[in-house]
Amino acid sequence: MSQQSHDSIRAVLWRDDHLRLLDQRMLPREEVYVDCRTSDDVAQAIRDLVVRGAPAIGIAAAWGVVLAAQRNPGGLGAALSHLRAARPTAVNLMWALDRMQRAIARGADAGALAVEAQAIQDEDLAANRRMGDLGAALIAPGSGVLTHCNTGSLATAGFGTALGVIRAGVSSGRIAQVFAGETRPWLQGARLTVWELVRDAIPATLIADSAAAHLMDTGRVQWVIVGADRIAANGDTANKIGTYQLAIAARHHGVKFMVVAPSSTVDMATASGKDIEIELRPADELLGYAGQRTVIEGARAWNPVFDVTPAALIDALVTERGVVERPDAARMAALFAG
Ligand code: MRU
Repeated sequence: MSQQSHDSIRAVLWRDDHLRLLDQRMLPREEVYVDCRTSDDVAQAIRDLVVRGAPAIGIAAAWGVVLAAQRNPGGLGAALSHLRAARPTAVNLMWALDRMQRAIARGADAGALAVEAQAIQDEDLAANRRMGDLGAALIAPGSGVLTHCNTGSLATAGFGTALGVIRAGVSSGRIAQVFAGETRPWLQGARLTVWELVRDAIPATLIADSAAAHLMDTGRVQWVIVGADRIAANGDTANKIGTYQLAIAARHHGVKFMVVAPSSTVDMATASGKDIEIELRPADELLGYAGQRTVIEGARAWNPVFDVTPAALIDALVTERGVVERPDAARMAALFAG
């Protein structure tokens, strides 16, 4: 099977004068789209998780800048600030906006900005295919893997980061079994990853997040494969809440831990994970589900949505520039400095 036969989904679609986003809040029950006609619409869609996943957020924001240039070139500065503030942890958002800002500084008009946004989107897809090959090559034939959150075509320009490695690994026979954690509270694993895998004919087994250590203990997974929202200069990696405990459990059980992310997720200006801002989202996301309160009134909740996995727990960091084994500051600098 070719890689392409396992990659049919696209969630961020440019339509000349608006941005069409597959509404990820509604999956898998409904496949509906939200049309963004202004940069503020795009910022709102990012905040509300209509579009989510670090690379997809960056791509959507780049198109948001194009919308601002088409409709109100005088307001470009304000549009950039508004987009930048939409979510704090995924550095791809800031990376894409910095790149659009450099194009504006070179005098780019709306047409030239559209070329830049399309380049960001196309380069992400190419990076994902490259990472798929590099990551899959690390996995012994017939392995079982566990992934967390959604890092697939929904979270990127297409193919995915960690899920791209899984797509490539399944195609080449290196991966025989895929487990996906639910990823509470938004269930990006249960609602989105399992949807993608079933849609693309990749056999997948859902587990409760709390079943992960037990799964590792059964010997059925050889790798945990996750994406990233920001990777610091020493290799510390911020990703969806729950990733850190998977890395601890993996090390305890002798299961390998792989992070897959494009270089746009690497933030060499941030020294370590301690300096990464962790997004706190509303307590309501934990206190209820699908608009329905599930916890007694009067209860409180704490809802950090990312955590930091220390570099020491990471066996391989796969990027489109190459693989960093056991990342640390020196190995990161060798690939990403300058
Ligand atoms: O809150 P989300 O759904 O945007 O979080 C997404 C993740 O944590 C992903 O693992 C990460 O962005 C990598 S996506 C290729």
